[in-house]
Amino acid sequence: MSENFYQQTTNAPATSFDVSLRPPAFSEFIGQEKVKERLLLMLEAAKHRGDVLDHVLLSGPPGLGKTTLANLIARAAGTQLHTTSGPQIEKAGDLAGILTNIQKGDILFIDEIHRLHPAIEEYLYPAMEDYRLDIIIDSGPSARSIQINLPRFTLVGATTRSGMLTAPLRSRFGLINRLDYYTREELALIIERSAGLLEIPVDRPGALEVASRSRGTPRVANALLRWVRDYAQVRGGGEINGSTADAALAMIDIDSEGLDEMDKRLLEALIYKFNGGPVGLNSLAVAVGEDAATIEEVHEPFLIMQGFLQRTPRGRTAMGAAYRKIGAPVPPSRPDDSQASLF
Ligand SMILES: Nc1ncnc2c1ncn2[C@@H]1O[C@H](COP(=O)(O)OP(=O)(O)OP(=O)(O)O)[C@@H](O)[C@H]1O
Ligand SMILES: [Mg+2]
Repeated sequence: MSENFYQQTTNAPATSFDVSLRPPAFSEFIGQEKVKERLLLMLEAAKHRGDVLDHVLLSGPPGLGKTTLANLIARAAGTQLHTTSGPQIEKAGDLAGILTNIQKGDILFIDEIHRLHPAIEEYLYPAMEDYRLDIIIDSGPSARSIQINLPRFTLVGATTRSGMLTAPLRSRFGLINRLDYYTREELALIIERSAGLLEIPVDRPGALEVASRSRGTPRVANALLRWVRDYAQVRGGGEINGSTADAALAMIDIDSEGLDEMDKRLLEALIYKFNGGPVGLNSLAVAVGEDAATIEEVHEPFLIMQGFLQRTPRGRTAMGAAYRKIGAPVPPSRPDDSQASLF
């Protein structure tokens, strides 16, 4: 386990471990009640009309369940899921290849949809609106456009950066859902469910202990559970309780609020090197030696949600809680935070 434990778990592609813990039905998908309710309603209405489902956008930080929901939508609709991602579609032909191989009502899942090439996006508009592709073949004087009619399908797009989506693309989704971080209670339920599947004995305090350090993220919760299980097997008689969980997580330097080394380094840099900010993302990234996109997608949303950091038009600013976290005196000029905390 390294200091970048979270980064490894939040950026890693889904492992077989992830897949085995993926809820197979909406009834086993814990939390995100509003999103679930809307999707179930949409599914029911479409079924009622005998129509295909409208296009759906799922946005939110990594590991909150976007891919899982795409799978559940296809399952509930009783249709096939075809998975691809923004960067994978390089040419119009790639998109045509996918879209001409689907059946009516199928779900096309495009992960990282904000990374679609702008030219591909243009092809997607008529496909989403009129189930039609206008492809230009050949070039120069022999160039001509051919029209391909497509089966009616549902596009489910996922993005960690909804702000990067263009307005025309965004407006073509019938339903836009933002996934939020999970509460400690919800995460404890997810951990208990996963522990049940993996046949690991865990008591309530143990589940809550792991939950409070999971950054509101199911994928992190499952990864921490796996580590705690190993620890409990070697040092705790195989059972996970509050104290084995606490000792196991202390061993990998994850503090009681779920902050890891990089989170703390970010707060320290912001406070000691930039006087609490405001400072631009790129300067901060250089100061901590981390990729700006990773900071923006993985670390910042959690630090903002926990009330440590604020994004202002002039840059990132440390809140009072950040000074307290790293044990620095809170300057009087700091607007103190409202103790905005999830837990
Ligand atoms: N609501 C939930 N209930 C139970 N388990 C969940 C839930 N949401 C996610 N998980 C678990 O967390 C793991 C990560 O979820 P998933 O792969 O769907 O995240 P994601 O949002 O697609 O992440 P990324 O943005 O990195 O692609 C899944 O394997 C699943 O086991
Ligand atoms: Mg995913």
